[in-house]
Amino acid sequence: MRTLVHLSDLHFGRVNQAIVRPLLERSWAIGPHLVVISGDLTQRARAAEFREARAFLDALPSPRIVVPGNHDVPLYNVLDRFFRPLDRYREHITEDLSPFHVDGEIAVLGLNTARSLTIKGGRINRRQIEGIQERMCGLGPEITKIVVTHHPFDLPEGSPHAVVGRARQAMAAIAACGVDVILSGHLHLSHTGHSAERFEVGGRSSLIIQAGTATSTRGRGEQNAFNVIRIGGKNIDIERHFWQPEGGLFGIASAEHFEETPRGWVRAA
Ligand SMILES: [Fe+2]
Ligand SMILES: [Fe+2]
Repeated sequence: MRTLVHLSDLHFGRVNQAIVRPLLERSWAIGPHLVVISGDLTQRARAAEFREARAFLDALPSPRIVVPGNHDVPLYNVLDRFFRPLDRYREHITEDLSPFHVDGEIAVLGLNTARSLTIKGGRINRRQIEGIQERMCGLGPEITKIVVTHHPFDLPEGSPHAVVGRARQAMAAIAACGVDVILSGHLHLSHTGHSAERFEVGGRSSLIIQAGTATSTRGRGEQNAFNVIRIGGKNIDIERHFWQPEGGLFGIASAEHFEETPRGWVRAA
């Protein structure tokens, strides 16, 4: 059994400060084996924002898998944007842009989908798709395989956003290597989808799990939220923890249960 705390879209620089301490306390109380942060650590990729994000990360349980988001690339400084897009992220957060965690039960690979050329959108490149194959294809079926990106592979109904660029090619590699779960953010909305509903994936469906924004003041109609994902062999449970401002704490608002079948992951009763 493995427990993951999945946070996303922290957006230091535009954070509801009342949430930070309760979120840290809740994360420690859950006692995760791994914390995943799926990008947008800052609002405008400023050094001061990265320092705040760094302090927050250091106060979380570890180990951690962190990937950058589009907000972690400078927007207005064109030189920084095109020639040093992730310098501040690398200085303050991590040099590793494809972090990997593997133990006896889970393998988790983070990929950077933030790009200089697109303001909001993201992309996976060929090298990263090869990285999924190198890291994941050789692992046995007893290991639950998880890929982490900022930009999503699936969207809630009616979403104006686009899925990550080259999603179709990446999904082919993901399906071929038996990747079980994709964790993303960016939408500031909690959502769970199945790859088989959006992609032709050879009859095997991965879970596509979005986390809302953990701490940003831009909730897009949803309270601040994060996911707790419990993985036990052929079972995955997803709890959505939503901020309750009146109580000043996070509460579990919903739980979903999934089972692994020959067709991949399906929702269970
Ligand atoms: Fe965001
Ligand atoms: Fe984003």
